[in-house]
Amino acid sequence: MADFTMDVENNNTQQPAIPPEKCPEKRKATDTSDEKTVEIKRLKEDRSDVDSAPRPPPQSPKKRLQLEGKPPNNKPKHNKDLHFLYGNYKHYYGKRILDKDFHDIRLDVLATQPELFRDKQLLDIGCNSGHLSIEIAKKFDAKSLIGLDIDRGLVKDAQTTISSLKRLAAPGSRFPYNVKFVHGNYVLDDDVLLEIERPQFDVILCLSVTKWIHLNFCDAGLKQAFRRMFLQLRPGGKLILEPQSFDGYKRRKKLSESIRENYNSIVFRPEQFPEYLLSPEVGFASMELMGIPEHCKTGFKRPIQIFTKV
Ligand SMILES: C[S@@+](CC[C@H](N)C(=O)[O-])C[C@H]1O[C@@H](n2cnc3c(N)ncnc32)[C@H](O)[C@@H]1O
Repeated sequence: MADFTMDVENNNTQQPAIPPEKCPEKRKATDTSDEKTVEIKRLKEDRSDVDSAPRPPPQSPKKRLQLEGKPPNNKPKHNKDLHFLYGNYKHYYGKRILDKDFHDIRLDVLATQPELFRDKQLLDIGCNSGHLSIEIAKKFDAKSLIGLDIDRGLVKDAQTTISSLKRLAAPGSRFPYNVKFVHGNYVLDDDVLLEIERPQFDVILCLSVTKWIHLNFCDAGLKQAFRRMFLQLRPGGKLILEPQSFDGYKRRKKLSESIRENYNSIVFRPEQFPEYLLSPEVGFASMELMGIPEHCKTGFKRPIQIFTKV
């Protein structure tokens, strides 16, 4: 019996080598027996049928469908970028947090001044799915933290996470009852609405959000947001700002036509933010560099600054 073995995992059939003595003899060119001549002639005839048959030209599947009279698939291409006009990435933390225990490296910078957060009332603008907000509220034992985001779906995800944490929480514990997520645009419809703002937070976090406010609401929208942050802070309050550099704006200008126009209109550059925040138009008294996270990707090594209101 032939010894055929099947490598099941690799689906390779291994055939044993044919012993040399069983190899067919090479046909000699001088071999002209009648039987062989008839056979070769028959094979040639068969071949000539194949050669003379008209061959279809090579065609792409799309072309073939057109020739068969089937309508081509003209479904509009799905532009996934249009869903992320605000930097509202669904799996943001999966991309940003690269170490296996899902530790956001920015927490190390924030941990250099834990007293900023302990027993304090915090607002986290652009909280995304709430991963970092939750970590901050828990690690630094905040009195309360409100996470706000323009993306309703992300806020829902954050609310779901906090609800599950509540189910697991020990009775009477502060965390996670100190965390709440709300949906909203931090940029107001009109500057006049700033007049009704009142101080209500000790700390406002605005991490990796300025670029998105800037690209969507231009210089005026971002400046208004900075003034709103100041007005919402109590005396002694801190704005913790992690602005993106202007280099990173360029890559996003193709997201939509209006973003391209907004990008082209920008004159207020991130390097001018401190000057503006410290100017009488806003009113912060001082600025310090809290630190630069040791992220392995250069793009995420963004300085974290603290602006203080007196
Ligand atoms: C790049 S993510 C940063 C998330 C988080 N702050 C962090 O650093 O881990 C930017 C977030 O800001 C939100 N965002 C952008 N513009 C906003 C606005 N005008 N008001 C509220 N949230 C905004 C986006 O939906 C997105 O979740």
